[in-house]
Amino acid sequence: MNANKTVIVTGASSGIGLAIAEAYLKRGYNVVGNARTMDRLQAAAQQLGNPANFLPVAGDIALPATAAALFEQAIAAFGKVDILVNNAGIFLPNAIGDYTEADVNTIVSTNLMGFFYPSQQAARHMSANGDGHIVTISASIALQPTAKVPAILPIMIKGGLNSATRGLAIELASSNVRVNAVAPGIIQTPMHGTDEGTVGFLNGLSPAGKMGRTQDIVDTVLHLTDSKFTSGTVIAVDGDSITDIAVAYLQGVYRGDAATLATLFDPHAQVYGEINGLPYHKTIAAYLEGVASRQSPLQLGEPYRMQILAIDSIGNVATVKLHSPMLGLNYQLFLTLRLLEGKWSIVNKTFSHIQGC
Ligand SMILES: NC(=O)c1ccc[n+]([C@@H]2O[C@H](COP(=O)([O-])OP(=O)(O)OC[C@H]3O[C@@H](n4cnc5c(N)ncnc54)[C@H](OP(=O)(O)O)[C@@H]3O)[C@@H](O)[C@H]2O)c1
Repeated sequence: MNANKTVIVTGASSGIGLAIAEAYLKRGYNVVGNARTMDRLQAAAQQLGNPANFLPVAGDIALPATAAALFEQAIAAFGKVDILVNNAGIFLPNAIGDYTEADVNTIVSTNLMGFFYPSQQAARHMSANGDGHIVTISASIALQPTAKVPAILPIMIKGGLNSATRGLAIELASSNVRVNAVAPGIIQTPMHGTDEGTVGFLNGLSPAGKMGRTQDIVDTVLHLTDSKFTSGTVIAVDGDSITDIAVAYLQGVYRGDAATLATLFDPHAQVYGEINGLPYHKTIAAYLEGVASRQSPLQLGEPYRMQILAIDSIGNVATVKLHSPMLGLNYQLFLTLRLLEGKWSIVNKTFSHIQGC
């Protein structure tokens, strides 16, 4: 599947970038991975099983020459570039009065120029091809700052990337190039180290009481990859978002990942619906057993055509309306969610199979 497609992932030697690179390799993409040092990229390649379709290209992403080299080498090796994931980035929290000139220069270089030059290359190349997708990993702190972590430099730059995502999506829409962003909350990666005190503090900052996993970001990047009519969107993945649950649900169903789906549902949830006029009712446990034992849409080679149609919330309850065509059926469904002790979970699923829409 997707054997001829190529993705460039910046910051691919660690954390979120490495997980994204692995996910695309599993989907059969050629992956061009960037980081500053070849040593770390080679260690990453080894971790990935040294696949022939992983091309490491070392260089500081702040430099226009690195962006040019990434595209030149990707095109020489694989013919064209379909997706750019602007992931390389650093986090420098501090009170505004304590930032140094060096801090300003470092974060502007890596996080701002490291977005601009690769995106410029991508825009030229993908516009000429009439097809492509740019996904940027920004940060949810830019959407929702917190008094507990003063960090105006990352907020300023990542907030700028969120705005640039919307602007560039409009600019490139007529060239059939989509531009989206994923804004992670706090995700457990080498960026934060393993110091117990720091980990405990960061866990406590999340509404769910724990940091997110790199897989949470991967799911959303893949959802955007598959959502062919979505552009100019910034999706927060911060454990506090109804959208997170909806995306994780759709990806979980598509992959047949019952274990992930189980984490989204309340254990007492019920599933009601009708298929071709026949009533359907299962407990969530019985439904998940069915998901685990059937062939998933991904395994069957079905295209991902799932969509979020609407999200509505009042206080601690919400509904999500989804379109989930798969396994020969055209499902329209509602998920009902409630927020309990800082965590959203699905308490009810209702669905119908609608012919011909
Ligand atoms: N983890 C979180 O909680 C979190 C939250 C919000 C947003 N994010 C964003 O997610 C992205 C990935 O973060 P992460 O947590 O996965 O970090 P990470 O584990 O520290 O990985 C960062 C990656 O970026 C590369 N990199 C750093 N500076 C670079 C440069 N100048 N040129 C090229 N590559 C460079 C690093 O490789 P080398 O060091 O070898 O160059 C590494 O591969 C970043 O943009 C970050 O801002 C993360």
